[in-house]
Amino acid sequence: MYNNIIRREKVIKNNPRKSIHGQWSSKLIFIFAATGSAVGLGNIWKFPWMTGENGGGAFVLIYIVSVLIIALPIMMAEVFIGRHGKQNPVASLKYLANESSSFNFIEVDKSLNRVRSKRQSYSNYDDYSNWQLVGWAGIIAGILILSFYSVIAGWTISYIFKAATGVFDAISLEQSQRLFNDFISDPEKLLAWHTMFMIFTCYIVAKGVRGGLEKAVKFFIPSLFFLLICLAIYSMTLPGFYDGISYMFIPDIAKIDSNVILSAMGMAFFSLSIGMGSLMIYGSYLSDKSSITEVTAIVAFADTFVAILAGIIIFPMVFTYNLDPSSAGPGLIFQTLPIAFGAMPGGSIIATLFFILLFFAAITSSISLIEPAISYMVEQYSLTRAKATFRMGFITWVLGLGTILSFNYLSEYKFLGMTFFNLLDNFTSKVMLPLGGLLMAVFVGFIVKRNIVEEELKLNTIIFNSWRLIIRFIAPIAVTLIFINGLI
Ligand code: PHE
Repeated sequence: MYNNIIRREKVIKNNPRKSIHGQWSSKLIFIFAATGSAVGLGNIWKFPWMTGENGGGAFVLIYIVSVLIIALPIMMAEVFIGRHGKQNPVASLKYLANESSSFNFIEVDKSLNRVRSKRQSYSNYDDYSNWQLVGWAGIIAGILILSFYSVIAGWTISYIFKAATGVFDAISLEQSQRLFNDFISDPEKLLAWHTMFMIFTCYIVAKGVRGGLEKAVKFFIPSLFFLLICLAIYSMTLPGFYDGISYMFIPDIAKIDSNVILSAMGMAFFSLSIGMGSLMIYGSYLSDKSSITEVTAIVAFADTFVAILAGIIIFPMVFTYNLDPSSAGPGLIFQTLPIAFGAMPGGSIIATLFFILLFFAAITSSISLIEPAISYMVEQYSLTRAKATFRMGFITWVLGLGTILSFNYLSEYKFLGMTFFNLLDNFTSKVMLPLGGLLMAVFVGFIVKRNIVEEELKLNTIIFNSWRLIIRFIAPIAVTLIFINGLI
């Protein structure tokens, strides 16, 4: 993929209108990269925390429904925009908007059956389109998310060292909570780990050394699966297993309110990396021969599987140690997992391995969070990758300071009842991503010409029509209603 990025950027620099056609060497590499983007802290850190905060089973149920009827169809739309536009999100949206507004262009294209090669000669190519705004909003959302994501990823790096040095050995609940609270109340430490994580991310993004990393996903996602399954088996042996599982899978319908629904939907967007252009970029490298439906379904399945597994591990622990799932907050996994690791034979090795895998999962997501911004700056302003990464990385790093301080010095400073971190997290997951996704759905459903989408998705008519119905009506209406209700 790295070579493709460089090739694409060279072509664009030399001639912005030339074909910008990079391709994944195979469908598998797309699946690896997109799974790398989707599977991350969202599944293992955020999902259990959100489930606990939003009433357990009710949240899980709505989460799964949201993935199936809102997130997955929108994911297909987002990947479609990327694959058809083949550029950074802003330019892809602009390109598609212009292409669809030019009727003759499409006609000629169809008859010649040379959709792609006609692209360069399209005269309105440089026109502005309001749809570009969706791309820009996505770039901003990515930077905002990465600013706190990196801080939490920093926690995982720190926990690798804690695990390796045996800090968790026979640790009690109180000790584990104290360990975590002392850690997050020390801004210097958080800053050091946040800085380190940003340096890792920027190094990989700037150098484009991610080809290796993307292939490594093939190794560490299954390893993560395997380790999670082992931990789930361990959880089965805990006295709180039954309570934990019932809490997670038996929905208490009375707990469903508009905020739970909004949180679950936001979580689906966040977890699948939808609504901000990451998957558009990755889609732009997907070969035309691959089925968008197939690859997105695989990614969504893998992502949901990891999240559910994380819940199956955490909640039995929560009930075994008599924690209150609704008030543990973002520290949930950092407080519970060490106790389990500390109690099992070979725990420090397993714990070290676990946090290393979590770190890898976080880094493949963080890369995708910043990529829309980088590709836009490189293609639009002819910056080198290194320069673009440095600038964006620096902005993100500075923003991260707000999150760091919101866990200690500024923890009492609240806006709308939320700390800076909570505000960023809520604003991005519950507002920016769903809104981005909604607009992408409307764009593909109403603006892009039907035949273009049909050709790209190659579905049978019934499935295509059902998908289009979801994209045009069901998903946008659902998101709007959930959104309005949740905000009121
Ligand atoms: N999906 C990632 C996770 O679950 C986070 C992410 C969100 C990545 C949005 C890219 C875009 O950790």
